[in-house]
Amino acid sequence: MKDIIILGIESSCDDTSAAVIRNGVLLSNVTASQAVHEAYGGVVPELASRAHQQNIVPVVDQALKRAGVEREQLSAIAFTRGPGLIGSLHVGVSFAKGMAAALNIPLIEVNHLQGHILAHFIKESEDDSNQPKFPFLCLLVSGGNSQIVLVRAYNDMEIIGQTIDDAAGEAIDKCSKVMGLGYPGGPIIDRLARQGNALAYQFAKPNLAGYDYSFSGLKTSFLYNLREWMKDDPDFVEHHKEDLAASLEKTVVDILMKKLWQAAKDHKLRQVAVAGGVSANTGLRNAFQEYAEKYHWKIFVPKFSFTTDNAGMIAITGYFKYLDKDFCSMDKPAYSRVSMA
Ligand code: KG4
Repeated sequence: MKDIIILGIESSCDDTSAAVIRNGVLLSNVTASQAVHEAYGGVVPELASRAHQQNIVPVVDQALKRAGVEREQLSAIAFTRGPGLIGSLHVGVSFAKGMAAALNIPLIEVNHLQGHILAHFIKESEDDSNQPKFPFLCLLVSGGNSQIVLVRAYNDMEIIGQTIDDAAGEAIDKCSKVMGLGYPGGPIIDRLARQGNALAYQFAKPNLAGYDYSFSGLKTSFLYNLREWMKDDPDFVEHHKEDLAASLEKTVVDILMKKLWQAAKDHKLRQVAVAGGVSANTGLRNAFQEYAEKYHWKIFVPKFSFTTDNAGMIAITGYFKYLDKDFCSMDKPAYSRVSMA
């Protein structure tokens, strides 16, 4: 049978990434991150799209070279159509369309969130078989999303719980900003938390029915508590940053795991995966391990390189869509805010 070789392109936020997958096996995954945003404490959309424009050609070129694949060998091009920053998406979408037209090969649109979940199916070698079996639950936690997804098949997913306000990563990033730490806050909080006492402080936890999340109350409670403590000690953060980080991380992880546990119990599912940028968090990974032992879960925690935005996840989703002949036309525009449903 002829090889199916997919080029994936991801440009939804501040990472320009291209990957090549042959018959489901990853050959290359090249990502250029954008340091330009650090000085602003967050992603500046206009700067992000300009950086994508500069990065996209060399990144795609590198991905093909590292894969040892010629453009003419590609079966199709998969690209992130959304959700994400519209200016950033435009760069990847336009590039993918132009390249597919020039090579006269099919174009495949990918939902970024579906990509995060299907990253669990990227094979790193022919005999790599550590993948979830359907159906399973996936906790999708990133800077923009906190969802519990019931995954029935590659192309059949249902969001059964989601945040009604802030995402988990967003809450961590904002609390980190309030503490005057750098951007993005997630990895900094993670590092500090390893040296702190997670029981030192208590912050508000939501009380929502069902599987939905809320993180805005935690963010407000963190800010108000900090203001109070700083009245007595203006250097409170400096003196207690490890304990603050550990307590914040524990609160977020507790909130995430409580609903996930309930969903797993109600749906009688023991295969549980985690995906998205926040899945790099050590506290969350440890909690998954604990639940695996305590509740006999079979857990799927992605490699660090597949947690943050990368084109490998777009290419693998494109591969499954290619098998379904699920191609898209050239007139499909990028979208910034459409959910997976
Ligand atoms: O999935 P992602 O790369 O981007 C999108 O939102 O699409 O997720 C980024 C989020 C940020 O909020 C970042 O602070 C968080 O993931 N993050 C972490 C860690 N690494 C990244 N949060 C907690 N601990 C980490 N180690």
